[in-house]
Amino acid sequence: MTILVTGGCGYIGSHTMVDLIENGYEVICVDNNSRSGTQLLQGVKKITGKGIINHKVDLCDYTAIQSVFRQHKIDGIIHFAAFKSVDESVREPLLYFQNNLVSQINMLRCTEEFGIKHFVFSSSCSVYGNADEIPVTEETLLKKAESPYGRTKQIGEEMIMDIAKVSSAKFVLLRYFNPVGAHPSAAIGEVPFGKPSNLVPAITQFAAGRLPGLTVFGNDYNTRDGSCIRDFIHVSDIAHAHTLAINYLSRTANAAAYEILNLGTGNGVTVLEAIRAFEKISGKKLDFAIAGRRPGDVVAVYANNNKARSLIGWQPKYDLEAMMRTAWQWEQALSNNP
Ligand code: WQD
Repeated sequence: MTILVTGGCGYIGSHTMVDLIENGYEVICVDNNSRSGTQLLQGVKKITGKGIINHKVDLCDYTAIQSVFRQHKIDGIIHFAAFKSVDESVREPLLYFQNNLVSQINMLRCTEEFGIKHFVFSSSCSVYGNADEIPVTEETLLKKAESPYGRTKQIGEEMIMDIAKVSSAKFVLLRYFNPVGAHPSAAIGEVPFGKPSNLVPAITQFAAGRLPGLTVFGNDYNTRDGSCIRDFIHVSDIAHAHTLAINYLSRTANAAAYEILNLGTGNGVTVLEAIRAFEKISGKKLDFAIAGRRPGDVVAVYANNNKARSLIGWQPKYDLEAMMRTAWQWEQALSNNP
């Protein structure tokens, strides 16, 4: 089977292409390289031996993405391509609505026009907002998203729920918690676009001397140590869930029109605990600063992942130390080969 991966040059996209290839799938990569170059494709080749050609296409250009579908027989789509920074979306809401929603609409139009039967959507725990109950399950009532980024994912899910009722395609919506870490080979990993807004690349770049400082945004939250709580999940575990979701869609004749799955470990970790875990694996003491809260942040969110375990047989393998260790190995590999 051939799977079209949008955003394949990105962090989760590249790790997912590795997992798909290792599980016997052919992959087609589509990425406009607005947020990542093609360097990770070299890492994909190093790991899998497969040379992947990227179709450099802006998904907001419908004619351009149609031409890709005309060049290949495509059996399934995994749609990653989107901007994903919570704090950037607070500063640039229109950019996020235009890019994330128009590109998704075009991918859904292609699904119908070219009769694609399997569609996996990259969603996010940001859809929960500040949930009343944690850990959250897929049935937890969604609160108002705390950021325009989270809102684009809420709207993205709603669009699929409406379309799935009348489409012959079947959908799986994967709600990622906080993807971190890198492939154990250190051949691929996260390559932040500009100054990292996410915690773990900020930690590793600061530890490598590539950032002048590390800031903890808020230590006055109503949590066990005052810092926010997140469910950090290894990017390779997230990647494998996509392969399992495609397996599920292609092998389940009576699958529901759509399924929503949480991809988190189920363990809530505070920002300060994450920093301490990094210090432990790296042997480095991080002299971070404490600043005010960051607009758009939710206080605490972590997953109940039972549905992903039972429906698609997902079993996350990596613990927090392994997440930090692979993130640090990747940062050092980047520093050695800038
Ligand atoms: C985590 C915590 C920050 C940087 C991410 C993705 C989003 C979605 C959910 C997939 C917050 C704090 C951060 C720093 C800090 N994933 N922090 N200092 O906002 O939870 O969202 O996961 O869809 O796409 O972006 O992740 O790493 O930015 O922040 O104190 O330098 O770390 O305030 O509490 P977030 P994050």
